[in-house]
Amino acid sequence: MPEPILQLAGIARDFYDGRNLRRVLEKTDLDIYPGEFTILAGPSGSGKTTLLTIMGLILKPSEGSIAIRGRAITKMSESALASLRLHNYGFVFQLAELLPALSVMENIIVASGIQGRRVPAALRRRAEELLDGFGLADCINLRPLQLSGGQKQRVAIARALVNEPAVLLCDEPTSALDSESSAIVLDVLKKLSRDTNRAMIMVTHDPRVFPFADRLIKIENGAIVSDTRTIGQPLPGETH
Ligand SMILES: Nc1ncnc2c1ncn2[C@@H]1O[C@H](COP(=O)(O)OP(=O)(O)OP(=O)(O)O)[C@@H](O)[C@H]1O
Ligand SMILES: [Mg+2]
Repeated sequence: MPEPILQLAGIARDFYDGRNLRRVLEKTDLDIYPGEFTILAGPSGSGKTTLLTIMGLILKPSEGSIAIRGRAITKMSESALASLRLHNYGFVFQLAELLPALSVMENIIVASGIQGRRVPAALRRRAEELLDGFGLADCINLRPLQLSGGQKQRVAIARALVNEPAVLLCDEPTSALDSESSAIVLDVLKKLSRDTNRAMIMVTHDPRVFPFADRLIKIENGAIVSDTRTIGQPLPGETH
């Protein structure tokens, strides 16, 4: 039985809405496994980004505990958390901003945390492979202003993958893509999660994306209302 890479236990989050403290994420237990492509779906305001950013160690939960590879992170310092994020996570945010003054290649290399030093050839090659896989081989030296919305979104995904993260978190990464480029991106992501045993968690409203997932989690009003795996894809550790 594989070990979960990420474990959330009794996680909840409250926000002040000006006057009152409001619970936007109810107590949640969730285990995330390597090699599994999980989709998190639900209506606007249901708590998807809240849950995703808690999983990404970006937003602190109001209650509960988080462990990565079995190691509790609750008492870690900010700098230890930052290092954990850099070495384990790739993020594609809902508003995936690229740095306008940098080329596509430079935008990707910036994410590797090696600014100012010589860029290793292997890193450049990996970036080129990713861009090629996303149909962007001709865009490597362009700047974000010269790209379409969908192309920028694909660059943001390549940027999140260049460090070969164990966990990739994406918030609506296909919202600006037409069906064809959305399918290309999803195929690449799915293949990557299988072949490299990566955990991929993607937030989406788009039901066209659901068939690509190994696991579909639905969230409503801050609570998980269903958590299903594709037929033939048992829960890790589950007998069938
Ligand atoms: N920083 C914040 N301060 C106060 N309230 C917040 C904050 N962030 C989120 N919320 C509230 O928490 C609830 C869940 O927000 P969240 O961003 O997680 O929703 P979502 O499911 O990602 O929605 P969408 O699909 O529109 O992106 C919303 O009611 C939102 O107003
Ligand atoms: Mg959101």
